[in-house]
Amino acid sequence: MRVKIEKLDNFGRGIAYANGRIIFIENALPDEEVDIVITKENKKYLEGKVTKYLKLSPNRTEALCPYYSICGGCHLQHLSITEENAFKEEKVKSILKKFASTESTLSPIEALSPYFYRNKITLHVHNKKIGYYQNNTNTLVEINYCPLANKKINSLFKPLQQLALNNDLEEIMLRTSNNEKEVLLKLTGSVTNYQDILNLVDVLVINDKAITKKAFIETKIGTKSYKLSSLSFFQVNKELTKYLYDEVLQVVKNSSFQKALDLYCGTGTISLYISDFVQKVIGIDYNKANIEAANINKDLNNAKNATFICAKVEDVINNYQNIDLIIVDPPRAGLNKIALDTIIKIKPQSLIYISCDVSTLARDLNLLKNTYSINLIKPFNMFPRTYHVECVCVLNLRKPLKIKGKSTSQ
Ligand SMILES: C[S@@+](CC[C@H](N)C(=O)[O-])C[C@H]1O[C@@H](n2cnc3c(N)ncnc32)[C@H](O)[C@@H]1O
Repeated sequence: MRVKIEKLDNFGRGIAYANGRIIFIENALPDEEVDIVITKENKKYLEGKVTKYLKLSPNRTEALCPYYSICGGCHLQHLSITEENAFKEEKVKSILKKFASTESTLSPIEALSPYFYRNKITLHVHNKKIGYYQNNTNTLVEINYCPLANKKINSLFKPLQQLALNNDLEEIMLRTSNNEKEVLLKLTGSVTNYQDILNLVDVLVINDKAITKKAFIETKIGTKSYKLSSLSFFQVNKELTKYLYDEVLQVVKNSSFQKALDLYCGTGTISLYISDFVQKVIGIDYNKANIEAANINKDLNNAKNATFICAKVEDVINNYQNIDLIIVDPPRAGLNKIALDTIIKIKPQSLIYISCDVSTLARDLNLLKNTYSINLIKPFNMFPRTYHVECVCVLNLRKPLKIKGKSTSQ
């Protein structure tokens, strides 16, 4: 079938129409004319695969990765980075308009290096070969290079291949400090022959047990230092995370908040980042290893006004009152309903919502918008060359309006 691509869907796939039905086509850009075969047929939509490009988009670029067509980890390496950023801005705008009926103006997307930005990767090992799993499968794509991973990580592929040959590995996790000076390697499987790799890493963890004296690497964001173990949550973009945290810090610096809650705080990174500018900050995360790391980082940064609680947000949020700032950074599923309803009851003066999934952000903003007005929505291209986009949303409590003796929100 010969079709013309009309636009991109939210996953970066080309959209074409044939006989009134929508077709999603990977690696196809707006205005391109392509021949396709149908690979999946559903009542509501079709999926197709390009067999021949007849007209190419001027926005098409050569993928940097030799595995791009088979790996599936990236979705937009065939699109220029300028157009990728424009696509992400449009995606955020249209989803927020459709699901939260918000027409708020978006701040321009913040973006830095499109490649070599990740400070962490996880590799699988099958039959002594290392690589990534193809999207939604257990099929290994053997790799010896990943242009999303930082240069330090890329320099370790060869020794890791050797390590895989000499042992019965299942999984390899590599993490570096943001300046790429320190390396943490976590191995899972049957590992006996690891002397050579010990010289190349600062921390070696085998099946959750540190073999090296140190179990943490140390990294910096702005003026704060963070110790990271093999289990800690930590933002993967080595440069842009500082910009995202600075956006939060700017809001804090421009107000005089006394008591802040940092919900879904991970290793307490944001709590500590803002701790010099609030009287008290309480971070909550349900992951024990994260809270252990948060407490270590609290001491490292001498942040006496920070407290970290290991609990489910929805189980403990009701215990807090007189909070003037709440920061939330939930997983892709967005805010739990109890958490959201309790935030509305606590009524902090400001709410900063950091989101890695704009669909659930829109759902939650729709429920918050009667109580809060949107002051800022800023996308961050934290995961260049994929369709993912992070957003920071700053919300302010609406002032109560007195109408005929009744109090309502403005
Ligand atoms: C996106 S990460 C937070 C990142 C952190 N703010 C940072 O910048 O590093 C989401 C965190 O939510 C935590 N989490 C997920 N569901 C939770 C829940 N119901 N209650 C508490 N923490 C939860 C996870 O352990 C994870 O650390």
